[in-house]
Amino acid sequence: MVHLQILTVYPEIFTSFLSQGLIQKAIEQEKLLVDLINFRNFGIGKHMKVDAPPYGGGAGMVLRPEPIVNALERCQEKANSGRVHKILISPQGEPYNQRKAQELSKLDRPIVLVCGRFEGFDERIREFVDEELSLGDYIMMGGEIAAMAIIESVGRLIPGVIGNIQSIESESFNYDLLEYSQYTRPVSFRGKRIPEVLTSGNHKEIENWRHQNALEKTRKKRPDLFDQYILSKAGV
Ligand SMILES: C[S@@+](CC[C@H](N)C(=O)[O-])C[C@H]1O[C@@H](n2cnc3c(N)ncnc32)[C@H](O)[C@@H]1O
Repeated sequence: MVHLQILTVYPEIFTSFLSQGLIQKAIEQEKLLVDLINFRNFGIGKHMKVDAPPYGGGAGMVLRPEPIVNALERCQEKANSGRVHKILISPQGEPYNQRKAQELSKLDRPIVLVCGRFEGFDERIREFVDEELSLGDYIMMGGEIAAMAIIESVGRLIPGVIGNIQSIESESFNYDLLEYSQYTRPVSFRGKRIPEVLTSGNHKEIENWRHQNALEKTRKKRPDLFDQYILSKAGV
């Protein structure tokens, strides 16, 4: 089972997301456990403040360290099986990718995802987490959508969550390449026919075609990934 603990000031954002489709099923089957923790409950004073203006001036509000660090410590206290793995969700983090999803899906301890808001985190919070992950080079209003992306991508790697294990194995990024082109019915659509080999029944030829197609597609669409693949094949 993968256990995720989400620290957020907007837990309601997750309500519909967690109650649909395969994620809901994974939760029902106890393959996935998601705790939503509102770190405003750890806020300061009568108004349970979690933010304050930045020292030195500037726009917006910054998340204070005390509510988040206290919430993280509470997650740690509640975990009875060793250390929790703490992740700050931030555009300044390491880019999140399939490799990281695989790594997280195999962790045997609770994973805490800290969702930021406003102008982001007081810098000192970074000293209390194990890693910082980014969804990409753009700025969203908060970390909740990134947390959902992590929940889905990790959740579908848990054995038994996706019916067909093969669909996971052949997917984009698993072999550092994009997935080969997929075709379904009809054989001919507006004059565009599917590649002949796919109906040949020759599994070896189909496998070769798919590999070549994945190489070509990656070279065209993601030259950065392609170069990385070639270097890793060359053992560089
Ligand atoms: C408006 S952003 C703050 C950005 C911050 N001022 C900066 O430049 O790094 C508020 C929060 O949204 C989340 N966020 C925004 N974009 C993100 C991204 N690309 N990846 C991960 N989290 C993101 C983070 O949790 C962040 O603390």
